[in-house]
Amino acid sequence: MTQDEMKLAVAQAALKYVVKDTIIGVGTGSTANFFIDALATMKNDIKGAVASSIATADRLEAHGIKVFDLNEVAAISVYIDGADESDDGLNLIKGGGGALTREKIVAAVADQFVCIADESKLVSVMGNFPLPVEVIPMAANYVMRQITHKIGGAPSIRENFMTDNGNLIIDIAGLKITHAKAMETELNSIVGVVTNGLFAQRHANVLLLGTPNGVKVVSA
Ligand code: A5P
Repeated sequence: MTQDEMKLAVAQAALKYVVKDTIIGVGTGSTANFFIDALATMKNDIKGAVASSIATADRLEAHGIKVFDLNEVAAISVYIDGADESDDGLNLIKGGGGALTREKIVAAVADQFVCIADESKLVSVMGNFPLPVEVIPMAANYVMRQITHKIGGAPSIRENFMTDNGNLIIDIAGLKITHAKAMETELNSIVGVVTNGLFAQRHANVLLLGTPNGVKVVSA
């Protein structure tokens, strides 16, 4: 089974978690794109979706799925999105596509967070994938110095990239993330950081993991 076939399998399995007649949250990335395409088959069963990026909003609308501004909605039943890494407590690294801040906001509002990923994303200790941090552009060098001093790892500015919010991404390579909640809090306390790609305080509730033997359901 190829990686794309595993992504397709988890995207289709996630349809079972879509709550009918509600507004759902939809993430960003290649796995989320498979989910959006699968969601189109049941678009008349939901009221619509809140998107975690401009790219996701465009793809939802191309399928005729109504996209709501988050400020228009009172609740989101479920948020469905991919991840760059997950540990077995369903703490995640996200933001490989740079949409981490909007993803974290939509995930915070949702009653349930269902993460969809192929088996390569489940690791024992996170950090092999560089941790993304969204920063206000004028603070970038200050934030990198603070990261080196307080967190460690090797921070670098993502080249030729601007987030949907007009900010920069710093990727921190070489971390071993054993205390994800504490690191999430410490990074967010650096002035100039918008947010970071650790989803530990609001981790996933369910991980649908694509394997060559089918979709495995992992719960936190
Ligand atoms: C987008 O900013 C990310 O958080 C993605 O959800 C994450 O990088 C997973 O992407 P893929 O499904 O493309 O691996």
